[in-house]
Amino acid sequence: MDDLPAGQLTLVAAGGTRVVLARVHDEVFACSDECPHQGGPLSEGRLSGARLSCPWHGWMYDVRSGECVMPARGVRVASYPVTVEGGEIWVEVP
Ligand code: FES
Repeated sequence: MDDLPAGQLTLVAAGGTRVVLARVHDEVFACSDECPHQGGPLSEGRLSGARLSCPWHGWMYDVRSGECVMPARGVRVASYPVTVEGGEIWVEVP
């Protein structure tokens, strides 16, 4: 957890899935690296508060829910449950 500064994105592999970890204040959220629009790498996007913007066309996701907030079209990026235990981050991928 200490390796994950607030406001930064980290790409990890979990069970063969590319997962983006996003730290927002003292919480960590995890979502797929693949933007649902055209597959842009969300780990190369920008995190602003809880909003993650895709580097390709700027779609924005709320990392807490995976919901696309701009444009609001009911699209979602896959998000995964995170547990932090003793400073270690565990992500549950399907
Ligand atoms: S691929 Fe992410 S906004 Fe287009």
